[in-house]
Amino acid sequence: MKSISPLLKIKNLRTYFDTHAGVVRAVDGIDIDLYPGECLGVVGESGSGKSVAFLSVMGLIKKPGRIASGSIRFEDRELTALNPRQYRDIRGKEIAMTLQDSLTALNPSIKIIDQIAEVLKEHDRDMAAKGPKAIRGWALEMMKLVGIPDAENRLNDYPHQFSGGMRQRIMIAIALSCKPKLLIADEPTTALDVTIQAQVLNLIADIKEELNMSVIIITHNLGVVSEYTDRTVVMYAGQIVESGLTGDVILNPLHPYTKGLLKSIPRLSERDKAIHPIPGQVSGLIEPASQCRFLPRCSEQSETCRTEIPLKTLSGHREVRCIKAKEETDKC
Ligand SMILES: Nc1ncnc2c1ncn2[C@@H]1O[C@H](COP(=O)(O)OP(=O)(O)OP(=O)(O)O)[C@@H](O)[C@H]1O
Ligand SMILES: [Mg+2]
Repeated sequence: MKSISPLLKIKNLRTYFDTHAGVVRAVDGIDIDLYPGECLGVVGESGSGKSVAFLSVMGLIKKPGRIASGSIRFEDRELTALNPRQYRDIRGKEIAMTLQDSLTALNPSIKIIDQIAEVLKEHDRDMAAKGPKAIRGWALEMMKLVGIPDAENRLNDYPHQFSGGMRQRIMIAIALSCKPKLLIADEPTTALDVTIQAQVLNLIADIKEELNMSVIIITHNLGVVSEYTDRTVVMYAGQIVESGLTGDVILNPLHPYTKGLLKSIPRLSERDKAIHPIPGQVSGLIEPASQCRFLPRCSEQSETCRTEIPLKTLSGHREVRCIKAKEETDKC
């Protein structure tokens, strides 16, 4: 895998928000390599910086936010150096992102057909030149691809006329309409019931194979990660605390935070066992103390954790930001 160049290479990315209370370090020095055809899961609790990290990749950070430092390379282009026009050529066409909230992400006053057509017009000039009939035909194809029933008769409907699951599919249709090389799906299933969740994720997996796309799935749900991704990155308080092949991270979590996330998943096979949520919440991102950020919530802490902990690379493409995990692994 490593002889191929990454499709996306994020290096030491820091995205900060300048607020009255101080500088919020939403993303504080993350490195991620994503390879062609790979499916990467990004997990972490609310506020860990998942969305901000990938909105940064999309060039969608607005004031008071800013990319404070770091590099985002997509193929051979440095995205942080692009001007807004250059970014528009890449966004939607080469990298597409489905946003977390399908209702607000879709324009409520524009018909679905026109929202799909808009993306095509902006990014696929050949298609746009073929005129409204061809655009309509293509939009219909996309709606069918994502499994909208009775698509022919629904192209003129508005977003609120669709259920949450259908809106997610429409967002995916819009995201896929220009066959991007990379799809970033931010919480694609959070608001959906379990059956629809599986349908939407299977759909993404099928289209990924069909188009040979790379996919990043951002989620709270380690179950989703374990079923659909090749590699997993665990984020906490703006940093990566653990990463590795998904099977390794799920079966042998090294960071106490990842262990805590896994213990907090309800399991059907262990119905009588209690769920153990991680006590406390993500610590403040304004001037974080120079110590392990998970320390206030960690059940395995000791005096040695009261220092800045680097992300340590271990064997088997594994990374972990925990002194204890390093000690345990060294013993093996
Ligand atoms: N416009 C903003 N101004 C100030 N802080 C912000 C702004 N946008 C995001 N943040 C902060 O950045 C941090 C990371 O937010 P982000 O949305 O990336 O979290 P997340 O991991 O995606 O959470 P969730 O799982 O709830 O979607 C949060 O503490 C949030 O409050
Ligand atoms: Mg988010």
